[in-house]
Amino acid sequence: ARTPSNPDGNPEMADAAVEPHTSPEPQLIRREDYRPFAWNVPQVALDFVLGLNQTRITARLDVERNPVAEADPTLRLNGDGLTPVEIRVDGAVVQSWVMEGADLVLTLPGEAHQVEIVTEIDPSANTQLMGLYASNGMLCTQCEAEGFRRITFFPDRPDVLSTYRVRMSGPKDQFPVLLSNGNHVDGGESAEGVHWAEWYDPWPKPSYLFALVAGDLVARKDVFTTMSGRKVDLAVWVREGDLGRTEHAMESLIKSMKWDEERFGREYDLDTFNIVAVSDFNMGAMENKGLNIFNTKYVLADSDSATDGDYDGVEGVIGHEYFHNWSGNRITCRDWFQLSLKEGFTVLRDQLFSQDMGSAAVKRIEDVRVLRAAQFPEDSGPLAHPIRPDSYREISNFYTATVYNKGAEVIRMMRTMAGEERFRQGTDLYFDRHDGEAATCEDFVAAIEEGAGLDLAQFRLWYSQAGAPRVTVELALEDGEAVLTLQQSAPATPGQSGKQPMPIPLRIALFDRESGQHGGEQLIVLTQEQQSFRFAGFDQLPILSLNRGFSAPVAIDREIAADDLVFLAARDDDPFARYEAMQDLIVGHLKKAIGGHLSDDDRAAARAAIGTAFRAILTDDTLDDLMRGELMILPGASYLAEQMLVSDPAEIHAEREGLKAWLGAHCGAELQAIHQRASGVSYSRDAAARGLRKVKTQALVYLAAGKPELAAGLAQDQYQAADNMTDRQGALMVMAGLESPDRDAMLSDFYDRYRDNPLVVDKWFAIQAQSLHPGALRHVKELAEHPDFTLRNPNRARSLYMAFAAASPTFHQADGEGYRMIADVILALDPINPQTAARFVPFLGRWRRIEPKRAAMMKQELERIAAAPALSRDTYEQVSRSLG
Ligand code: PHE
Ligand code: ZN
Repeated sequence: ARTPSNPDGNPEMADAAVEPHTSPEPQLIRREDYRPFAWNVPQVALDFVLGLNQTRITARLDVERNPVAEADPTLRLNGDGLTPVEIRVDGAVVQSWVMEGADLVLTLPGEAHQVEIVTEIDPSANTQLMGLYASNGMLCTQCEAEGFRRITFFPDRPDVLSTYRVRMSGPKDQFPVLLSNGNHVDGGESAEGVHWAEWYDPWPKPSYLFALVAGDLVARKDVFTTMSGRKVDLAVWVREGDLGRTEHAMESLIKSMKWDEERFGREYDLDTFNIVAVSDFNMGAMENKGLNIFNTKYVLADSDSATDGDYDGVEGVIGHEYFHNWSGNRITCRDWFQLSLKEGFTVLRDQLFSQDMGSAAVKRIEDVRVLRAAQFPEDSGPLAHPIRPDSYREISNFYTATVYNKGAEVIRMMRTMAGEERFRQGTDLYFDRHDGEAATCEDFVAAIEEGAGLDLAQFRLWYSQAGAPRVTVELALEDGEAVLTLQQSAPATPGQSGKQPMPIPLRIALFDRESGQHGGEQLIVLTQEQQSFRFAGFDQLPILSLNRGFSAPVAIDREIAADDLVFLAARDDDPFARYEAMQDLIVGHLKKAIGGHLSDDDRAAARAAIGTAFRAILTDDTLDDLMRGELMILPGASYLAEQMLVSDPAEIHAEREGLKAWLGAHCGAELQAIHQRASGVSYSRDAAARGLRKVKTQALVYLAAGKPELAAGLAQDQYQAADNMTDRQGALMVMAGLESPDRDAMLSDFYDRYRDNPLVVDKWFAIQAQSLHPGALRHVKELAEHPDFTLRNPNRARSLYMAFAAASPTFHQADGEGYRMIADVILALDPINPQTAARFVPFLGRWRRIEPKRAAMMKQELERIAAAPALSRDTYEQVSRSLG
C-alpha cells in the first residue's frame, strides 16, 4: 500500500484518489428548513454491470408528484462526483437536464413519469469508502448517510421510501456471490463466465439502506424460526480463511432475533438475513435492510485472536444492527436531524440486550464509563450539540457519542420513569403507529407519552438542550426528617446560553448509619431549578446513595465525607452506586491533588482511605470477579479532566499514575494473590473464567505501576501461559508500558504469531500507540513506517493514531509534537477518507480546557489545518467549530 519513492514521508498523499470537495464554506443545513420532497419514488429498479474498475449502473425510477408537498415541476436528484451517461424520460432520451453543482435537475411536465439514468463509476478509486467501493477484491456498498448519491442520481434523503428491485451481473470467478437487500428472486448465467442475480426487497426503504455485495465469499448458515413459525435463512459471509471465526457472530444473531421477539415483540420480516464482513469500513457496521455489512472487527472472533471485550463487541454490534430492522428500517428517520430516533433507541436496545445476555450490573458500569469518557467531553466542548441537532454542514460529523449514547440515556430515563412494563406499552404504540413511516423524535416522544402514560412536556428539553446538567446536593436533618435539597444548572454550550431546568429522574436510597440498611429505593424527579425532598423517620443524618444505576446522565456535585463513600463502596446494594462511591472517593482526592493543594499529610490520609476501600474490593469474597474487575478501574484521565475547567494533562497523568503505583505497592500482596488465583485456570467463556481473566490483568496493571520488576516477570509468565487472546493481550499491554529488557522480544513474538491476522495486527499497533511507555510518540512515528501500516484502511489508521490520541500521555507531550503529528495525519488522511480524518479533530478541539501553553499549540495546529487548501466538508466543519 505504500509508495516508497515518495520524498515527503506522506506516501498516502501521493496518489490520492479523491478530488477536492467543496468550497471552504459549505452550506449550513437547518432542521427548521425541512420540507417534504416534491416527488414520491414508489419504485426503483437498479441494474449493475459489475467491475472493480468500472461499474455501470442503470437506475429506473418511477416518480409521481407528492400530494402533500408544494408542487414543483423540477426533479432534483442528488449526485456526488457523478456524470450522467444517458438520461431517458418515459423511454425517450432527453437533453433537457442541467447540473446544479453535483446534482442533476430535470423538469417534468406531468404527474407521473419514469426516469432512467445511466452512470459509470470506478469502485477501486473510491478511497472514501462511501457508495460502491472495492475491498480485498470484493465490491460492497456503504450508503448511510449520503453515499447512495455516489452510485446514481437520486433524492438521497431518508424520507423518500421506495421498493427496490436489483439486478447485478459480473464475472463469476471474481464475484461468485451476488447479494442485495431483501429476497433472492432469480439468477442465472448470461454469457460464458458471466452470471447474474436478481433481488427484490418488498419493504419500502430510503436509499441509505440500499446495499450490494459481490465477491468471493463463504458463509456460515443457520435457520431461525420466528415467533409466528416462519423460517428465516441466516448467513454470515466472510473470506474463506475466516469461516472458523464466525460461530460467535451467528450465535449472537440468533440470540438477538429471539430477544427482540421476547422483549419488544418484534419479529423479523424477510426470508433471508445476511451479514457480510468487510475489512475496509469507516464505522462499526451498517443495518442495510436484510443485508447488514460489518467491519470484520465486529464479526470475527475466536479465543486465539479475540479478547473477551471483542466477543462482547461482536454480540453488541450484531444485536444493534439487527435491532435496527425495526428501530431504523421499518420506522426510519424523516431527516438526519432525527438520527437519534433510530440510533439512541437502538443503542438502548443493544445495551438492554447485552445486560440480559451477561452481567447487567457490569454492563451498566461499562456503558456509563463510555458515556463519561466520550460523551461528557463532547458535551462540554466546542462540538457540543443536542441529541437532536439544529444544524449541520456535514451529517457524517453527527454520528456522535451524543446522538448515540446520550440519546440512549435520554430514552432510558423515560423507561425509568415509566417502569419497564409501561415503557413497553409506549414502544408498542410507537412501532404500531409509525410502521412504514419516516418519523421524528417528536413522534417517538408522543408515542411513549401516550402509550406509557407519562407527561413528557418538560422532558422534551432533553432533545433540544445540549450540555450535561450539574446537580448540587445538600442533605440536612430537620425535626426528624432528612431534607434533600437539589439544585440543577446546565452549562452554556455553542449557540445555547440560558437553559431551562429539565426533569432529572434520580433513584435514591437513604442508609441508616446504625443498621447499615435502607428502607427501600425511591425515585424522585427534580423538575425545578431548586427543590427539596423530605423523608420522615430519621433522627440521625442518613448516608445518601444517589443516582443509583446512573438513572440520569448528569454530573453530581456534593460534599460527602470520605468515610461515607468508603461505606457505600463497601456496602451499597446497588452495584453501580458502589462503583460510583469508589470513583467519587478517588476523583475527590485526585481533584485536590492535581490542583497542588494537598499537604503531604492530607495526601497520605486520602490515600489511606482509598487504600482501605480498594483492599476491601480486592478481598471481598462475596463479589464476583467480573464486578471486582470493574471496581478496580481508576477513573479515566478524560473524566478527570472533565472535573476541572482547565487542566494540565501532565499533572493529571502524574497524580493518577502516582495513586496507581501507591495502590500497587500498598496492596501488592493482595494483588499478587489475585494474579495467582487467576493463573492456571484454563480457557472457557463462562462468567467465572472471564472474571478471572479480568482481575488477572487488572492486578498486573497495578503491580506494573507499583512493583514494575515483579510485574514484568508476571507479565512474562502470563504471556507464555496464555491459551487465549485476553491473557496474551493483557500481558503484552502491561509489558509495552514498561522499560523491561523483555519488552521488544514480546512485541516481536506477538507480531510473528499473528502477522497474517489483520485484526490482531491492529491490536499490535494499538497496544504500542496507547502504552504508558514514555517513548510512545517515537514508537508511533516508527510504526508509521512499518510495511503493514497504511492510512487507507480505517481500522489500521485508527489502531495507530486514534489509540495514540485517545490514550497516550505523550499525545500531550510538552513540546507539542503529539499535536503536530495528529494534525499531519488529519491533513494526509483528509483527501483519502474525509470521514475518518474528521474524527481526529476533536482531540485537538479541546484546547480551551487545557492549560494555556499546550492550548496555544493545539489551536495553532487547528489553524494550520484550517488554512489547508481544498479541505473536505467533514474536516472543515469540525475544525471551524473547534476554533469558533
Ligand atoms: N447506522 C450505523 C449504525 O449505527 C452506523 C453507520 C453510520 C455506519 C454511517 C456507516 C455509516 O449501526
Ligand atoms: Zn445504529
